[in-house]
Amino acid sequence: MKFFIDTANLDQIREAQELGVLDGVTTNPSLMAKEGITGRDNILKHYVDICNIVDGDVSAEVIATDFDGMVKEGEQLAELHDQIVVKIPMIKEGVRAIKYFSDNEIRTNCTLVFSAGQALLAAKAGATYVSPFIGRLDDISTDGLNLIAEIRLIYDNYGFETEILAASIRHTMHVLECAKIGADVMTGPLSSIEGLLKHPLTDIGLEKFLADYKKGN
Ligand code: E4P
Repeated sequence: MKFFIDTANLDQIREAQELGVLDGVTTNPSLMAKEGITGRDNILKHYVDICNIVDGDVSAEVIATDFDGMVKEGEQLAELHDQIVVKIPMIKEGVRAIKYFSDNEIRTNCTLVFSAGQALLAAKAGATYVSPFIGRLDDISTDGLNLIAEIRLIYDNYGFETEILAASIRHTMHVLECAKIGADVMTGPLSSIEGLLKHPLTDIGLEKFLADYKKGN
């Protein structure tokens, strides 16, 4: 399973990279705005800065919602760095754009996916990644993890190569459950990854080992 971090915060990306288990970064316009990154030139520069920190794929989202606009913007994003994956929303023009990029060997991440049907369409169009937003489904009392299981089943039935990128991860249990179901990738906050290392028996055990060592030295 690949671990992506879902942020545009460079310090957090550096911290995750230093842990040695990071495979990529996802961003979106809201995450960029949260870091105060505004204006086209600053946004493009920020994507390059992220690519220079992390060894792996960096999703950069288009703002255009028409086919021609998405193609123009996506090609510009893809030219920034070979780690860039163009993030395209699951709308009709977006499906056309994903197909265009797939035919032209530009990698895509189909975002804002909330149903198995949308995921099927993204795979048919040739998306590199599909991003089902499990946390936002949970927020409206719908089982986000069940969507991951449905997509896994459909993709395995037909051998689709599109990778399931479980997005809108809110906590460590989401990561674990997605791993059990077989999501290819998770993207979430650093805390959802760091939560994996925590166990009270580890802390108690280490404390005891160190105390016993001190007794004999
Ligand atoms: C995915 O690529 C999105 O950026 C993200 O996971 C959305 O998460 P949120 O629901 O926490 O905003």
